[in-house]
Amino acid sequence: MYDMKIVINGRKRLSGNVKISGAKNAALPELAAAILSSDEFEFCGVPEVEDIKVMFEALKNIGAEGEFINNKIKIKIPSLKSGLVPKDIIETSRASILILGPLIARNGYAKVSLPGGCPIGDRKIDFHLEGLKRMGAKINIEDGYIIAKSDKLCGIEYTFPNKSVTGTENLLMAATLAQGETFLGNCALEPEISDLINLLSNMGADIKHEENNSLIIKGKTTLNGAKHKVIPDRIEMGTYIIAGCFLDNEIIVENTIPEYIKSLLNVLENIGVGIVIEKNRIKVNPTGNISPIDVGTKPYPGFPTDLQAQLTTLLTQANGISRIKENIFNRRFRHIDELNKLGANIEVKGNTAIIKGKTELRGGIIKSTDLRASAALLLGGLIADGETVVENSYQLFRGYENMPEKLSQLGANIKLIKR
Ligand code: EPU
Repeated sequence: MYDMKIVINGRKRLSGNVKISGAKNAALPELAAAILSSDEFEFCGVPEVEDIKVMFEALKNIGAEGEFINNKIKIKIPSLKSGLVPKDIIETSRASILILGPLIARNGYAKVSLPGGCPIGDRKIDFHLEGLKRMGAKINIEDGYIIAKSDKLCGIEYTFPNKSVTGTENLLMAATLAQGETFLGNCALEPEISDLINLLSNMGADIKHEENNSLIIKGKTTLNGAKHKVIPDRIEMGTYIIAGCFLDNEIIVENTIPEYIKSLLNVLENIGVGIVIEKNRIKVNPTGNISPIDVGTKPYPGFPTDLQAQLTTLLTQANGISRIKENIFNRRFRHIDELNKLGANIEVKGNTAIIKGKTELRGGIIKSTDLRASAALLLGGLIADGETVVENSYQLFRGYENMPEKLSQLGANIKLIKR
């Protein structure tokens, strides 16, 4: 699994339709939400990617029964046979932190491995732990595990010091079974969180979205199961839309919700790429003359950090100097040395990448450093002249469903090599 590489012969014209899969970052907390009830859940549109498989295994380890076939997960946790989420199951993913809130809420005990995931910065979890402690959980960190105990969680008032996606999801899930009312202020409200709120509401949770990004949750003693369709993945959408901006490609991205990626569409409009939106399809009309731009990553609805690396590859083709400021994570520029190996001219100063375009990229041997960086490097390989080998590409499969196959169907010359 870990030893794989992708080989691309670049500069092939891509054309045709590509269908976007369900959102990994919606499906992850939604699967964790199944812990909150002993009833059955049916999820459809679940992407068959490594992070989801890891989450499914972790849930089985604590007592889940079910199956994951053809993008559908049926899952039921009639009783919890263990509060343990071991390191060896979860170490590549951040899913364990999402299990913590619901598990302590239903079981009163959780021992979950400290989260792994992409090496993109100091991914702190202090807001998660502080919120759960205020709800009444006793929490210790021992030997790489978070050990949490509680007789009964209680409602709290907590305002996040900064917006956190999984922090909001975790405390929101815990609050649905806590005694009394919880007020959560300064919540992240990414589309994945709205989708989680829809699921929890269908499970019988009482959640109100107030002004100023606050949520008010009235705790229930039990919640029921639900059927749920996962929303399409806005980062996968953005990645294929960016692929459509190169050369004389003609890509139509299907199963999209354009509203989710307005920030990217605005950037593309400003740099001169034509976009045609038809309900849930987006057609990209590339231009040979891309203008440079300055962009900063922000929580939703701002420009997503998860598209920063892919936009960087695109801006290597702009005529002039672009700057991307990464405001969310402090080490999310590891793709840049790799893009420079292909001939890009990018310099990092503090948290800003300065991209000097336009540069002709040529093939080379480069290495994936994290999930979204992998996608940015594939995009680099697609426009580079000659052969590009992307090593360590298992990272890609943590979050992109069938990306080599999807690109190949669009006309790319791309091969996955498993050793
Ligand atoms: N933060 C804290 N304390 C906390 C939590 C977060 O200081 O307790 C800081 C982080 O260090 C970071 C910022 O707040 O600087 C935002 O982090 P956030 O908690 O929002 O990130 P996350 O929940 O760990 C999710 C996605 C990421 C995505 C970020 C930002 C999931 C499973 N992961 O991570 O997705 O980049 O939100 O939108 O939803 C990816 O899919 O490639 C990915 C990395």
